[in-house]
Amino acid sequence: MFLSVAHRQPVVVEAVVVPWFSDDDVPVTWPNELQEAVRRKEFTGDIGQVLDVSPLGSPRTFLVSLGRRAGMTGNQPLRKAMAAVARRLSAARIEGVVFDIVEEDGDVGMAAGEALGLLSWRMAAYKGSGTADKGLVALDAWCSEDTPNRALVKGLALAESANLARSLVATPPNIATPAWMADQARSLESEGVKVDVWEGQRLEDERMAGLINVGKASENKPRFVRMEYRPTGATGKPVVLIGKTITYDTGGLAIKTRDGMKGMKGDKAGGCAVVGAMHWVATQLMPAFPVVGILVAAENSISDNAFRMDDVITYRNGVTVEVTNTDAEGRLVLADGLAWACEREDPACIVDLATLTGGVVIALGKVFAGLFANDEALARQLDEAGKRSGERVWRLPLDTEYNEILNSEVADIVNSAASKGAHPVMGATFLTNFVAPGVPWAHLDIAGTSGSDADKGLFVVGPTGFGVRLLAEFLSGRPVE
Ligand code: BES
Ligand code: MN
Ligand code: ZN
Repeated sequence: MFLSVAHRQPVVVEAVVVPWFSDDDVPVTWPNELQEAVRRKEFTGDIGQVLDVSPLGSPRTFLVSLGRRAGMTGNQPLRKAMAAVARRLSAARIEGVVFDIVEEDGDVGMAAGEALGLLSWRMAAYKGSGTADKGLVALDAWCSEDTPNRALVKGLALAESANLARSLVATPPNIATPAWMADQARSLESEGVKVDVWEGQRLEDERMAGLINVGKASENKPRFVRMEYRPTGATGKPVVLIGKTITYDTGGLAIKTRDGMKGMKGDKAGGCAVVGAMHWVATQLMPAFPVVGILVAAENSISDNAFRMDDVITYRNGVTVEVTNTDAEGRLVLADGLAWACEREDPACIVDLATLTGGVVIALGKVFAGLFANDEALARQLDEAGKRSGERVWRLPLDTEYNEILNSEVADIVNSAASKGAHPVMGATFLTNFVAPGVPWAHLDIAGTSGSDADKGLFVVGPTGFGVRLLAEFLSGRPVE
């Protein structure tokens, strides 16, 4: 939509955007054309309505309705309204815009930054000589008042971290191998993040049974990636983020159908969100407590060396798993990350993100991610962060009554039951076997929310970076433990 968006005072102000809450008084300082515009019959005051007040004038003036200030819950209406404006600015090929936001409305400036930033994302890296140049323009954006102007910068920066995750998700699986994902994590070293990558014998030594087995068939060998942000002198326990990073999910020997397989490059979205969140942590948030990001990266492929149904694998925490479905691979690799984190990281809490089940897409679609948690406070914090960030979560049950679904004849548990019911719950229940007692843990099933199938609102078709903005909000509200 834009070639780029920069926070800069435009040399030529081609457009002025005037956001307005319909229950605010019309400011007496407004020029006549604006005063008149809010009274036009066509201006209904619906959230996100954009009126081109001066189609022939220079600068163009866009009036945008933010709906009613009273009773607004969360900032999502603001983001949606700003996305509508951003789309109008792009259509008009505006290169310099000033947002006329009052000093008190930092949230409006932040929403403008997020919307412009998210809508400036596109996947251009693999467009070749066969694609004509779209002639996109670079936009300079600025706010007239100080508080919203600083918030605009913050919104743009947050979008940048989310966009990093989106670009990783969109990278094709012949490029984005587990080793490549590890390299992407390593690129955060320049921001002061410590990065360790394990492969081969080290994975054997650490008994990473899930990664070893799921990754066995592919020539693109698995990686365990550990990123650490640690502020100098920090003594507190780390927040640990774990991302499912299946760089391609064929289903393994339980091979997916053609239509079911297409798009499975997106099965690394959890890990990409963790990279994006670590980027935000290291470049902007810089919290007083440590944050550890873990990627469990493997390609679920097929060869005569593939792991198979009926195999039994043994984890570092001693739990044995009978593989009943090679397509339920995400939980197998997450188990390595969870067992490691509980044993070695002394975590304040663990949040894992995974495109774990098609079932969560059936249950919640693309609006809410599924949230499972063994800790009420953590569940509440994530729910609140979801409401504030617009990346919302809906709690689904964790209950011991589900445990029997996973009963195995030969091992402790199976990785997938024959029963068709409650797939997202089954996945989460499986993971509880790798979470040590007393560790606050939450699992986010982002299979639905990690991608958008419509060019609408804040997103174009493709990855959404879901999790980055949610975690940014979650981490910003946390005390040191
Ligand atoms: N990566 C898939 C889940 C998925 C499905 C993500 C559709 C995005 C869109 C996962 O590895 C998988 O195959 N899950 C199975 C689980 C089942 C075998 C218990 C599923 O959802 O069918
Ligand atoms: Mn699968
Ligand atoms: Zn998968």
